[in-house]
Amino acid sequence: MKKITIAIDGYSSCGKSTMAKDLAREIGYVYIDTGAMYRAVTLYALQHKLISEAGIDSDRLQGQMPHIQIGFKLNAESRPETYLNGVCVEREIRSLEVSRNVSPIAALGFVREAMVDQQRVMGENKGVVMDGRDIGTVVFPDAELKVFVTAQPEIRAQRRYDELQAKGEPCQLEAILENVLERDRIDTTRTIGPLRKADDALVLDNSFMTIPEQKAWLMEQYRRAADDCRD
Ligand code: DC
Repeated sequence: MKKITIAIDGYSSCGKSTMAKDLAREIGYVYIDTGAMYRAVTLYALQHKLISEAGIDSDRLQGQMPHIQIGFKLNAESRPETYLNGVCVEREIRSLEVSRNVSPIAALGFVREAMVDQQRVMGENKGVVMDGRDIGTVVFPDAELKVFVTAQPEIRAQRRYDELQAKGEPCQLEAILENVLERDRIDTTRTIGPLRKADDALVLDNSFMTIPEQKAWLMEQYRRAADDCRD
């Protein structure tokens, strides 16, 4: 079967990456977590003291962009892990410090340009499932399958709360809901590459769906899109 490009965009904490990863594994495609790439740039900026109370030293960060190489490798359990300049940073990029600083970094035009260039190279041979915010609109506007994932903010906050509780991290549902709403606001209103549904994307509201139901739905859409692309 001919390989296609699959773009999965949507709001934070709505389970995009779980479903994108599962699909990629099932159909033998490469999974690319573009959020991890913005997180890796943020980690680099923190490590090199390019972020301080005064804000981001964007001139220096811009100068250093050619020295920021991001890649993915599968670990022993076949799970993709993020590498920054050859070092595995999968755990570090999920830290609270990185999460707190990533939105303003992801809003910088020169950062987005560099990441979009790298993402296009990673997906040039098709056979990729790429998840993010601007994949179907900016990175691969010609993707054969585009999915826009959404869920009610209260439900996304509850899922995040349950995840943190399971990890034993103290948290409050109200504060998480506020954070979810704030991230939605930043993601949808930034000038460059804002989160929005591509006109030809399929919408998946998974508020009341189980993970197996989402997986089955996505598989069905993949089959249809791949069938449509047969020579
Ligand atoms: O999906 P995530 O929470 O790991 O994403 C981290 C940040 O990167 C979040 O602020 C949204 C941003 N992002 C983006 O601007 N464009 C993408 N393609 C992917 C993520």
